[in-house]
Amino acid sequence: MSARVLRVLIALVLGTTILATAPAAPTRAGTMAVERLAGADRFQTAAAISARHYAPGVPAAYVATGLGFPDALAGGPAAVTAGAPILLVTPGGIPAATAAELARLQPGRIVVLGGPGVVSDGVLAQLDAYDTGGGVERIGGADRFETAALVSARHFGPGTATAYVATGANFPDALVGGVAAARAGSPVLLTTPSAVPPATDAELRRLAPQRIVVLGGPGVVPDAIAAQLGTIAPVSRLAGATRYDTGVAVSAASFASPAAGLFVATGATFPDALVAVPAAAISGAALLLVPGTSAPASVQAEAARLAPGRLVLLGGPAVVNDRVTYQVRQATGDLAPLPACSYQDVATPFPSLADWERTQVDTILMVGPEYYPGDLVDTSAAGLNGGHAVRGHVVPDLAAMAAAARATGVPIQVQSAFRDYATQQATFDYWVSVGGYDQALRTSARAGHSEHQLGITFDFTSAGGAAPWNYADWATTPAGAWMAANAWRYGFAMSYPRNAFATVCYDYEPWHYRYVGRDAAWRIWISGLTVREWLWLNGNGG
Ligand code: DAL
Ligand code: ZN
Repeated sequence: MSARVLRVLIALVLGTTILATAPAAPTRAGTMAVERLAGADRFQTAAAISARHYAPGVPAAYVATGLGFPDALAGGPAAVTAGAPILLVTPGGIPAATAAELARLQPGRIVVLGGPGVVSDGVLAQLDAYDTGGGVERIGGADRFETAALVSARHFGPGTATAYVATGANFPDALVGGVAAARAGSPVLLTTPSAVPPATDAELRRLAPQRIVVLGGPGVVPDAIAAQLGTIAPVSRLAGATRYDTGVAVSAASFASPAAGLFVATGATFPDALVAVPAAAISGAALLLVPGTSAPASVQAEAARLAPGRLVLLGGPAVVNDRVTYQVRQATGDLAPLPACSYQDVATPFPSLADWERTQVDTILMVGPEYYPGDLVDTSAAGLNGGHAVRGHVVPDLAAMAAAARATGVPIQVQSAFRDYATQQATFDYWVSVGGYDQALRTSARAGHSEHQLGITFDFTSAGGAAPWNYADWATTPAGAWMAANAWRYGFAMSYPRNAFATVCYDYEPWHYRYVGRDAAWRIWISGLTVREWLWLNGNGG
């Protein structure tokens, strides 16, 4: 047994990582290391997952098509036994990201998963340039079922304790089951809903496992299939009502608490998690699925039970959005709960002018009277009405947004922008005089607590129009509606959206936009998090 294989086995038993290089520093200050592994496409994402978990000199690299899920998923537990990551190709070529990662890995040998229809002989020949002498081997059958059976036959001997069986028709169960199987040193075989394919049946009989675990409920692997499998070995199921709950069931059956890590992937599409099984398995990480836009309660509960030391989001924020991160970190206690609305005077954790992107002010957190941006310019610099001040770095995006609104025929104008401490005090006092103190608290910030004091926040209205709060709902005017739909493209987020009082502690203000930069504004937009939640997630909540 090579030292590498020994390390893999030790890692599997101990649930530790076999990283030869030190992990990158966590991206935030907290006890859980949070990272995102993502690329511009599935090939880049696969390369990033490999690069993060495998050092150069791997004994082998496994290669599968990125266009379908079955081969890569059936290959996961097998790759783990070989100390190999999985990378993705197209039927006719090696994408640049895959080639670069293979060049970095310098694998001893390369194993291609799937027949020539999914990875051509031409690709096989090209791959031969990347192994260090062991050559390229293909394990491929006539279909996904036969390929999975051949992969199993090549890697797992008779008498294996457990064999896992998932539907070959969809990816979620084979994906989450793959991590459990890899951890247990077991293969994943595939079935159809109507019959156990002959190749699967024959391989299971060869394996003669002590038990068969069916992944997924009777909707995907019917009871009749389970009964057929029961003629080979005792059958049990790991299943939930949804793919997400099945993931939870598999995780609960496979991982003790605390787990070294938790991988989170979307259950909606397969590309970003296709090669995650080996990486999760060797780093002792469970894998849970989410719809991509939020974490179901069952997933949050399982994350809390796992108490992982590391959280890995697979795919970009459009695939697994920041609400998922928010919910998982809160469920695990890694991110403090967002404080309930109250009126306090607590110094904000990032009071430096340079920290404008994450300086949080709300009804609790505040900046001091000395907070004063030295780089203010007049809003006329952005092609808008003048007489208001804004920090200089906001001007390019502000000008672009104003120009786009104008070009669309819905010009905007600035109602209010930077306010210093004294001006905010006077503003708040004015609203107290209008509606009383308690009402003012719902609509105006006390001095020190206003985003306007940061020099990056605006109240907008329609060009030539009244003050925006004099409209029944400014967001229903042409300019206000355009802003609601488009401001994020220019780096602006509506801080106090409708029906969000419990979260943001202010009444609806469809005119109040804080500049957060384009990437953050996009992430806020696609996650549905409020600015307050977003800032809490990005440093202010620990
Ligand atoms: N109207 C908002 C809450 C402010 O005063 O900053
Ligand atoms: Zn405002």
